[in-house]
Amino acid sequence: MKIGSIKENLEIEKRVAVTPEIIKKYKSLDLNIVLPKGYGEHLGISDQQFINEGVEILDNNENVLSQANLLLQMNLISEENFKKLKNEQILIGVLNPYSNNEKIKRLLDNKINCFSLELLPRITRAQSMDILSSQANLAGYKAVVDSFAYYQKAIPMMMTAAGTIPAARVLVVGAGVAGLQAIATAKRMGAIVYATDVRLASKEQVESLGGKFLIVEGAENLETEGGYAKEASEEFKQKQENLLKETLKKTDIIICTALIPGKKAPLIIKKDMIEVMQSGSVIYDLAASQGGNSELTKVNEIIDHNGIKIMGDSNILNKLPNSASNLYAKNMFNFVSNLYDKENKKININLEDEIIEKTLIK
Ligand code: NAI
Repeated sequence: MKIGSIKENLEIEKRVAVTPEIIKKYKSLDLNIVLPKGYGEHLGISDQQFINEGVEILDNNENVLSQANLLLQMNLISEENFKKLKNEQILIGVLNPYSNNEKIKRLLDNKINCFSLELLPRITRAQSMDILSSQANLAGYKAVVDSFAYYQKAIPMMMTAAGTIPAARVLVVGAGVAGLQAIATAKRMGAIVYATDVRLASKEQVESLGGKFLIVEGAENLETEGGYAKEASEEFKQKQENLLKETLKKTDIIICTALIPGKKAPLIIKKDMIEVMQSGSVIYDLAASQGGNSELTKVNEIIDHNGIKIMGDSNILNKLPNSASNLYAKNMFNFVSNLYDKENKKININLEDEIIEKTLIK
């Protein structure tokens, strides 16, 4: 049984699915790894590091595609590589099945088994495979670090003989995985942190990290049974807007993280709300590629509106690809390990296992 991974399109994806640290774990299951030459070069990982762990380095992507029984990727492979796959090969990644519906259908027609990890159920057993959490956590951290770098004042309160610098005030919109990490990171750096969410359960989590929760008075709890957000009503949106507009007058930095699964990101920070902020403020919109929480966000651009900087990357994880790859590779290994029948040494697509059933694209 061979596990392989080919190079991603480096212009859009710097993360990798296999790192040297994870090889021992595959080896302990008697699984062999094949990678193309230069697979981790852009991350400072040499072929020799992989070879030292027992990886077989092949000449190119094509050789990996023809030898691997399981292909581990970040994104869906390019269409020109589709024809190089064989019946019963397994492709695992973040395949974005809603946008890539047509392409994936072609793979399924050719009897390629496709697993997409963003479809993982959020159950306890799947936590170690949860790529949405591992990556969102890093994204929340990096959004704070990047926005602080653009903010041209100090973050913590400083009392000096020359006078006092006030602490920066940060608002985190959406207190899920990314938002909670953003709150923790901003607090650690000395900011005063506020947060808001439509799920009332997040209030306690925000407060336990030292943040102040901004509650939309009289609002119902917009949480689904699965723990996700529901779309807010017009009445809720209006109340939220009034509440935030007041807060924004004194906010220096906004970190936007609000998402609703399967829908465009909710528009929360409108243009007129941005205009009440002080010049020099910064907005980092982590929801940029899903439409943005701020009205003025443009993906991969830094907008300057009355001196307020608004930014959002299409893939912020490309800015810390080594850490992101390490966590992703571990998530991926845990997923493969669950798919692998250790006694009979073969892959077992057991549809009675909720994790396998939910992630297999049918
Ligand atoms: P997400 O990335 O889908 O959304 C981010 C946050 O935005 C959520 O907290 C959501 O409530 C909030 N939001 C949506 N619309 C909003 C609006 N109009 N205004 C303000 N906030 C808004 O969510 P994420 O981070 O993936 O986590 C969502 C839930 O899943 C949480 O309850 C979390 O505890 C749970 N979870 C469970 C896991 C497990 O048991 N394995 C693992 C990870 C998360």
